Amino acid sequence: MSEDVARSGPPRTAQHDTTGVEARTAPAAASSTEAGIGDRTAVVDVGTWTRPEVAEPAVSSGVGIDPFADVSQAERDPQWFKRAVFYEVLVRSFNDSNGDGQGDLPGLTAKLDYLAWLGVDCLWLPPFYTSPMRDGGYDVSSHTAIQPEFGTLSDFIEFVDEAHRRGMRVIIDFVVNHTSDQHPWFQASREDPEGPYGDFYVWRDDDKGYSDARVIFVDTETSNWTYDPVRRQYYWHRFFSHQPDLNYENLHVQESVLEALRFWLDLGIDGFRLDAVPYLFEEEGTDCENLPATHEFLKRVRAEVDRLYPDRVLLAEANQWPGDVVDYFGDPVEGDECHMAFHFPVMPRIFMAVRRESRYPISEIMAQTPEIPANCQWGIFLRNHDELTLEMVSDEERDYMWGEYAKDPRMKANIGIRRRLAPLLENDRNQLELFTALLLSLPGSPVLYYGDEIGMGDNIWLGDRDGVRTPMHWTPDRNAGFSTCDPGRLFLPVIMDPVYGYQALNVEAELRNSTSFLHWTRRMVEVRKQNPAFGLGTFTDLGGSNPSVLAYVREFGDDLVLCVNNLSRFAQPVELDLRKWEGIEPVELLGGVRFPRIGELAYLLTIAGHGFYWFRLPRESNTP
Ligand code: NOJ
Ligand code: CA
Repeated sequence: MSEDVARSGPPRTAQHDTTGVEARTAPAAASSTEAGIGDRTAVVDVGTWTRPEVAEPAVSSGVGIDPFADVSQAERDPQWFKRAVFYEVLVRSFNDSNGDGQGDLPGLTAKLDYLAWLGVDCLWLPPFYTSPMRDGGYDVSSHTAIQPEFGTLSDFIEFVDEAHRRGMRVIIDFVVNHTSDQHPWFQASREDPEGPYGDFYVWRDDDKGYSDARVIFVDTETSNWTYDPVRRQYYWHRFFSHQPDLNYENLHVQESVLEALRFWLDLGIDGFRLDAVPYLFEEEGTDCENLPATHEFLKRVRAEVDRLYPDRVLLAEANQWPGDVVDYFGDPVEGDECHMAFHFPVMPRIFMAVRRESRYPISEIMAQTPEIPANCQWGIFLRNHDELTLEMVSDEERDYMWGEYAKDPRMKANIGIRRRLAPLLENDRNQLELFTALLLSLPGSPVLYYGDEIGMGDNIWLGDRDGVRTPMHWTPDRNAGFSTCDPGRLFLPVIMDPVYGYQALNVEAELRNSTSFLHWTRRMVEVRKQNPAFGLGTFTDLGGSNPSVLAYVREFGDDLVLCVNNLSRFAQPVELDLRKWEGIEPVELLGGVRFPRIGELAYLLTIAGHGFYWFRLPRESNTP
């Protein structure tokens, strides 16, 4: 581990015992009023409500164990997330340690050396909670228990400790908006309307309310209301009908969610991706998104995190325009809601810009992206576990994207495209590199998706979004080295087609080949980390003479990086106005080659088709 990583990363040795869960779980809270045991005081008066017994695992009292306790104040880096390269990894899909056909936490722990080698700073784990698994685990049936096939709480603690020991952080998904209909809260709610959980969900006698709210999963749902034959009422849901929305008007819901958040924070995780945050509250006559009450609740969550858990991060999932998403950072100066939010609209525009060979889709969305508070950061990505969403484009642009990237109707899902990066780019190495270079250099912290670093393929014959969630390819052996089980037992088949089949496309093969996409990606991550401007710097679009070339400068103090991207498949010349940096000799970052000194005339570059340059503009070279 480099010294830099050691300094800015989490502590390498946990100060607590890792042999058992007991080390970190205090006795279960008896009631929500006790959720603030010790130095905690409940911010909202929840009256005398006592948490009734429902069959769910005990949660901790929230007696915090600070994983940073052995790190001196000076070594703490509250803004680590602005520099970090994130990696989304599905526990179920990464590595199976016990041969039951499903990836698990011990399996993931066993692969941490690989992830550390790749250079990622923070792992993001989508839900691994108990779940009927009808929505990839986003249908949680407990917010604090782990799906047995994925491991135990001890396995999770060991995983977090081992990640920390390697200088990597861990954030986990937390599904704030809804639960599975199998959650004990919902079961209690439907069976006993007058009981303590009766009001935990949004119930109505008819399905007429909130009619201005759109349906999100248009492939499967026709309404946001579903009739429950047990309670004989309709319940509200923004996603699948088996995922009832929690009723945030009920303060006990808020308390229960905060309690579950503390449970994980107490185990030493570094933060949360907060799933589907815009939909927490509903209000008649609105589209039920981004309501003031939703922001108020998120401010409560943030205040609790700031008060008790230093250096943790909240990452908002709000698939909206940047002008709306900035509200999830909270106060424009202080940033008192989420530390991070995904920048959804830039992603499809990268795909559009390259296919149209025009920088404007990217330039325009960047120009529309407001300033964000200094202590906040965008999260940017090319692909993730969902379909490539096309909600944030016009109808015409969506048709264009479907026409270009989803030629087979099976590639479509909801309002998007269910394919992985390499197949989207027709396995073209130049485009894979260009897209990755854009991801690693545009403003925001990049989030890689597991398998994309080796150019994994997808399987459009699988249902829903499973085609982009298949087992990781480790070796050319049985089940791609993911599992020793009978191939038929795998939770999803490995990719076996002639182009992306695991026999040739796997980590082992790419490790052995020094020109592989895996080695190239690792090198790019390394170079990015050597230049703080990528994570922390300002962004200035330079325009330029050629609309196929996107050029911008990232600047942080003395660190000045010029990025020039040729979005066209053909070689292109470009003249850039770099007079501001006259006298400087650009240094190409991958090879260290010095380019001609910037003069008072336009700076001429020629770039190969789908090529890119990253230059450092060293101020010290600005001397005659
Ligand atoms: C957002 C998640 O990314 C997606 O996978 C899930 O289906 C929805 N939330 C609903 O839970
Ligand atoms: Ca397993």
